[in-house]
Amino acid sequence: LGGDSAGALRAGCAVELVHCYSLVHDDLPAMDDDDMRRGKPTVHKLHDDAMGVLVGDALLTLAFDVLADRRTAPSAARRLRLVRELAQGSGLGGMVGGQMLDLAAEGRYPAAHLPAGEAGVVLIQSMKTGALIRAACRMGAVLGSANAATMRAVDAYAVALGLAFQIKDDLLDVESDAATLGKAAGKDAEAGKATFVSLLGVAGAKARLDAATREGERALAGIGPQAGWLHALLGFNHARKS
Ligand code: IPE
Ligand code: MG
Ligand code: MG
Ligand code: MG
Repeated sequence: LGGDSAGALRAGCAVELVHCYSLVHDDLPAMDDDDMRRGKPTVHKLHDDAMGVLVGDALLTLAFDVLADRRTAPSAARRLRLVRELAQGSGLGGMVGGQMLDLAAEGRYPAAHLPAGEAGVVLIQSMKTGALIRAACRMGAVLGSANAATMRAVDAYAVALGLAFQIKDDLLDVESDAATLGKAAGKDAEAGKATFVSLLGVAGAKARLDAATREGERALAGIGPQAGWLHALLGFNHARKS
């Protein structure tokens, strides 16, 4: 969409800081209790739980420091929009709320706010994973001075990509192994997670992945020829092995 690539890189770093924080906390014993991430011991395994909490807190806080810096965008109003997009994507109405519903669906909390069946799984996935991907895409559009129609297309693309990404994550959990993934496999069923695989089986989840990928491609028609890289990202996710 044009715009300043150095500023966009800083906004991308802010998203990645939140992403890393979310994984450090997701792996804590109180949440998914995982020992390995990206082929290495998780933070709480290498140090202890307190360090895992603190590392997550530090990464999250740094993300907003990076966004608020003038080098991210000269306009204070634009920086404020970026801060809100990231806060809303990662907060209670987005990632954090989704993480809570993910644990509720395991039966740890009353899942009163969780619709039954596919709607519940879509809600969990779109919040715990989709919301941050959506924020990332929308922040790029903000920095590219997108008009309302382009923002709608970017948003629809991002919703589809987020869903496709988490369906693929759920499929890899059952179809791959720890050496390839760099994290434990086969844990979702064991933990009683609500996923597309638990709901529809492997073949059904694959069909849903195909559908979400096509949905993302359709949305890109509203962005134009400069969306080639976003197109490639859908293909990358569809084929990824880890
Ligand atoms: C994690 O989902 C989502 C967030 C960290 C917000 P998962 O729990 O399925 O992710 P993995 O499988 O541990 O990477
Ligand atoms: Mg999790
Ligand atoms: Mg996890
Ligand atoms: Mg997973």
